[in-house]
Amino acid sequence: MFDRLAPLYDRGMSLVEATLFSRQREAAVAGLRGRVVEFGVGTGLNLPYYAPEVEVTGIDLSGGMLQRARERVRDLAREERTQLIEGNVERTGLESSSYDAVVSTYTLCNVESPVAALLEARRLLRPDGVLVLVEHTGSTWAPLDAVLSQLDKWSGPHWGEHLRRDHAAAAREAGFRLEYHERRRAGLVELVRARPL
Ligand SMILES: C[S@@+](CC[C@H](N)C(=O)[O-])C[C@H]1O[C@@H](n2cnc3c(N)ncnc32)[C@H](O)[C@@H]1O
Repeated sequence: MFDRLAPLYDRGMSLVEATLFSRQREAAVAGLRGRVVEFGVGTGLNLPYYAPEVEVTGIDLSGGMLQRARERVRDLAREERTQLIEGNVERTGLESSSYDAVVSTYTLCNVESPVAALLEARRLLRPDGVLVLVEHTGSTWAPLDAVLSQLDKWSGPHWGEHLRRDHAAAAREAGFRLEYHERRRAGLVELVRARPL
């Protein structure tokens, strides 16, 4: 699906972010240092916000999305500090206990098993590493959540887009201790910072 969406993704996302999810990216990656793995890096929309010295390894299943990310890496002159890999975040093949942070923004709604992806994140992180999630989920406003619940019955099975996953619960199940957890924008955006237990 994302191969087909790739040419339209940035424009579609900027509309959603202007109205709903604004300014979460800067906040998510601000202050990260060292070696970072980004799950479902997509077209690389977070890349402008990393400090220049941060080494980013971005993983994505979609070659089309990664093609856009490569162009962004070139535009940012970030080639020496960025590695882009076509692969599955549920089994990255990267070295264990070697990364300072794992970041996922709007990706866990699409993976087959969020817990499997987060167990992989835990494997990759150093003991003092940090997991940073910015994900969309259901709403804390009941009428909107009821609509999302109906949409989810279709979008999950047909598009692989799960609208109401509980990302904090998945992080706990994968062996993380939550340091920070917040729901914003009628609960639609879920922010998590967590450490390996
Ligand atoms: C909604 S996009 C989000 C992209 C980016 N994180 C952002 O914030 O704009 C979801 C991305 O996750 C990727 N993806 C979905 N399942 C994946 C998996 N199991 N492994 C790696 N990437 C995956 C998709 O190809 C897509 O690029």
